[in-house]
Amino acid sequence: MRSFLLTFFSSLCLMSTVQGDYAAKSYDSLIGNLPGIDDQVLKMHFKLYQGYVANTNKLLSSLKDMEKNGKLQTPEYAGLKRMFGWEWDGMRLHEFYFDNLGGNTKKLDPDSDLAKAIDRDFDSYDKWEKDFRATGLIRGIGWSILYLDGKTGRLMNTWINEHDLGHLAGGTPILIMDVFEHAYITQYGLDRAKYIDAFFNNINWDVALQRFSEQQSR
Ligand SMILES: [Fe+2]
Repeated sequence: MRSFLLTFFSSLCLMSTVQGDYAAKSYDSLIGNLPGIDDQVLKMHFKLYQGYVANTNKLLSSLKDMEKNGKLQTPEYAGLKRMFGWEWDGMRLHEFYFDNLGGNTKKLDPDSDLAKAIDRDFDSYDKWEKDFRATGLIRGIGWSILYLDGKTGRLMNTWINEHDLGHLAGGTPILIMDVFEHAYITQYGLDRAKYIDAFFNNINWDVALQRFSEQQSR
């Protein structure tokens, strides 16, 4: 079924002339600036991300074409609709991930509001980090996300399966770690824990603080 949809989707893309709205962001500034994460891994990762952006735009365009051509309520339309969240989340999660890298070993300010919220919800920063790492070590491909529940202000570490399963409705991602194998396997093999060490050395806490403070001011 999935291969049929991909073939069908590809043929629709060839017919489409509508330009998508999303543009891939440049993260070239990270190259050479992430100790423990090889530049070649990063460059490959950027290409994968660009693929999600391209496919998001193609899906939007294809779905619009199908609507114009009276193809709503068809299995093909339903299939592409189901694919959309996967591609879109793949695009946006990579942006969140690349955006929260580049911190150059700078630690989270223990006096920051985010650190205080972590202490409140996880008892301590160390317990939070242990849980975030354990979430990222869950077998499978996906993401470890520190989510903020905008309704209550509670922080939770969350496992996202692939790109689209497990998100917390209404929540705001504060810190995101990609644990798909493409993020580390060519450099670290199956030793995901070493990649997670490298991730922690490169967290840009200023970005996480900004995300958190934007939600607090709403
Ligand atoms: Fe990725």
